[in-house]
Amino acid sequence: GGPERPRVSVIGTGYLGATHAACMAELGFEVLGLDIDPAKIEALTRGELPFHEPGLPELLLKHVQSGRLRFTTSYEEVGAWADVHFIGVGTPQKPGETAADLRFVDAAVTSLAEHITQDALIVGKSTVPVGTAARLRDLLAETRATAGLDGTVELAWNPEFLREGYAVKDTLTPDRLVVGVESAHAEALLRQVYAKSLTEGTPWIATDFATAELVKVAANAFLATKISFINAFSEITETVGGDIGTLADAIGHDPRIGRRFLNAGAGFGGGCLPKDIRALQARVSELGLDRTMRFLAEMDDINLRRRDRVVDLAVQVLSHHRDGIARSAGDTASPVPSPATVEVLNGTKVALLGVTFKPHSDDVRDSPALDVANRLFTAGADVAVYDPQGNANAARRFPRLGYVDSLEKALVGADLIILLTEWDEFRQMDPEYVGRLVDQKLLIDGRNVLAPRPWQDAGFTHAALGHRF
Ligand code: UGA
Repeated sequence: GGPERPRVSVIGTGYLGATHAACMAELGFEVLGLDIDPAKIEALTRGELPFHEPGLPELLLKHVQSGRLRFTTSYEEVGAWADVHFIGVGTPQKPGETAADLRFVDAAVTSLAEHITQDALIVGKSTVPVGTAARLRDLLAETRATAGLDGTVELAWNPEFLREGYAVKDTLTPDRLVVGVESAHAEALLRQVYAKSLTEGTPWIATDFATAELVKVAANAFLATKISFINAFSEITETVGGDIGTLADAIGHDPRIGRRFLNAGAGFGGGCLPKDIRALQARVSELGLDRTMRFLAEMDDINLRRRDRVVDLAVQVLSHHRDGIARSAGDTASPVPSPATVEVLNGTKVALLGVTFKPHSDDVRDSPALDVANRLFTAGADVAVYDPQGNANAARRFPRLGYVDSLEKALVGADLIILLTEWDEFRQMDPEYVGRLVDQKLLIDGRNVLAPRPWQDAGFTHAALGHRF
């Protein structure tokens, strides 16, 4: 069903929305992107992407220039023009709470409801607590009835599974498409929109609202659990010895387990995994299921303890180098550094490699690396931060850290190197060369990506998360 080739709008031009809009244009649709932030709309209209994402700037420019992709701040324009409206606005953690803040999704649905002048389908893509789509369907109907508007406007829910750094690929060739629908018409229209993926054999899962909402949070909670699971074993191997990488490889050979997302290190961060597991717990408690997702609180704690561990390891490595005894920093979880931490770190020059929450991104939201950088700085360390993409965003958040614009500048004169984001530039470092730049040959690998042997051969003390020091 539906019109010949539906016209598509995308509400919210942040990470998800901008990617979705450009990819819909790439799939051949005429697309209108909307954001309430005029600065964003001006930049996008000039074909400029306000964040880093490989491959996306090219796609944006191509379709802005062809005229297939346009941007606006006007709900009136969008409501009169498009047949399918995707909502890709943020659902951040409420300040001081664990629950998700739904005001942007609510505002998008209300604004669309008031301005749509023809039959249309609204498709939510944002990550939301279960029950939200049903509530929004009612809100939509009420708003239209109150305003006395005609036309059939339906709601569907279509969660997004894209990863930062691979957003274009994940959107154009998704692993699966999940749609929560309440009518055959909505499903048919979405099939039409995603026809290209379907001809390529992408699994199509049409289900109800609740399932569609839950699939998204279940996927992220499972991924977070995998990471915390291997990091919990890191706490064991750090104590008794053993090799966490070999352990992950060995269990990963069992296809029921799988090797991916078992990389031990500084843990997960970003705009999704941490907030999604917290929002899920909050929602499930609201439903009266207090114990159901309690294990996720444990996953969250294990994850955050990795950051404490990096600080502790820095103190151990430095004190061991100074006087032959690996001293513990004591309690590193507190925002106030312990006296032992300050004593050892004060004045130490740290080359901090990586501040983004993962490579191929400039995103520093909830970044383990940036958190550690700030803690070392608070303890008096002289921190030289270098990230191939993340310095500007990090400097906005923590302006007092030292930022340098090359790897070499970070390394020159360093007392300790700490790698916290596994960019290729860091993986490829030559130990001999690095050894000539630094003052002290001390290295902490916070992502388990540097083979110990070549660094040890070059005279380095090599310490890593998941390994006994
Ligand atoms: C995550 C999910 O992977 C996407 O499927 C989902 O669509 C997205 O959230 C979202 O909800 O929007 P993303 O936040 O881009 O994607 O990042 P991931 O690639 O999942 O990495 C998350 C964090 O886990 C990073 O900090 C990474 O360094 C860490 N990680 C990942 C590990 O510590 N170990 C691993 O083995 C894998």
